[in-house]
Amino acid sequence: MQALATTQLDGLKPFHRGKVRDVYEVDADHLLLVATDRISAFDHILPDPVPGKGIVLTQLSLFWFAYLGSSIQHQVVETDPNSMPASVRRHADVLRGRSVLVKRTQVYPFECIVRGFLLGSGWKDYSATGKVCGINLDAGLKKNAALRPPLFTPSTKAKEGHDENVSFARMESELGSARAAELRDQSLFVYSRCADHAKSRGIIICDTKLEWGNLNGRTLLVDEVLTPDSSRFWKADDAARYLPDGDPPSYDKQVVRNWLETQPWDKQSPPPRIPTDVQALAQARYVEIYETIVGRPVPELRG
Ligand SMILES: Nc1ncnc2c1ncn2[C@@H]1O[C@H](COP(=O)(O)OP(=O)(O)OP(=O)(O)O)[C@@H](O)[C@H]1O
Ligand SMILES: [Mg+2]
Repeated sequence: MQALATTQLDGLKPFHRGKVRDVYEVDADHLLLVATDRISAFDHILPDPVPGKGIVLTQLSLFWFAYLGSSIQHQVVETDPNSMPASVRRHADVLRGRSVLVKRTQVYPFECIVRGFLLGSGWKDYSATGKVCGINLDAGLKKNAALRPPLFTPSTKAKEGHDENVSFARMESELGSARAAELRDQSLFVYSRCADHAKSRGIIICDTKLEWGNLNGRTLLVDEVLTPDSSRFWKADDAARYLPDGDPPSYDKQVVRNWLETQPWDKQSPPPRIPTDVQALAQARYVEIYETIVGRPVPELRG
């Protein structure tokens, strides 16, 4: 299938271009989130996309929004480009399967991170200070240890450079205690409910980053939800094999990372081109993750 590395949608105003997603302004109240097939590894966008990745990730996000049902208020307005406003409809061929028309909200300026395991920046924090985002943890925990109950560890959304972990108290002082508690409780709820489902299917969601937005005083779940781009996934079989002492590989990115590790690349200069067989392996991996979690083939992913 044809990969989509970037979009240029005539007649729609670009709102934001992320590492992977292109966001457009549809009107004063709506945005269009478009997931391209770009892939990042080691903090670089790779020069070659993974065909269909944006479709798989969009469909996975939509599965979770539906799975959460009425327990959580969310942003989704429409998923079929042919039923979107005319300015979007004319691009339906490019957008099918990979775009969502959403309510435009005022996004709270915090990444709502939930951690079920001690890794990544949480592990770094803990090894340096014995705490994660100001939360004291037992001494002597190993890297990748399970955190029960999971921790809510917000970070600021940095315009440049890396996001900075912050304490819950900081979030309370900026948003007020009631709003901060709402974001924390709903984030923990979403993570636990969805991670339980994934676990029953053989996938461990180690941690995830959620975003919430305010619309007329109501809090909506926005952005992407529990995708491999916003979360760390392990295959349960790998976790069983590697833990408690080892490092389970990342379920989605590992095929690409492994290949990059065989290349004479310093991880600073522009990354090398990705061979088509590695792209195909990565694509198969994303599809496998979707099919495992959802239990049916990816809609809209055509050969
Ligand atoms: N419903 C919504 N209302 C308003 N803004 C939204 C909504 N959903 C998502 N956004 C915003 O759209 C943007 C999507 O950006 P995206 O995640 O693609 O890139 P990024 O966060 O800048 O960088 P990265 O690629 O590292 O994630 C974010 O700024 C997010 O807060
Ligand atoms: Mg983002």
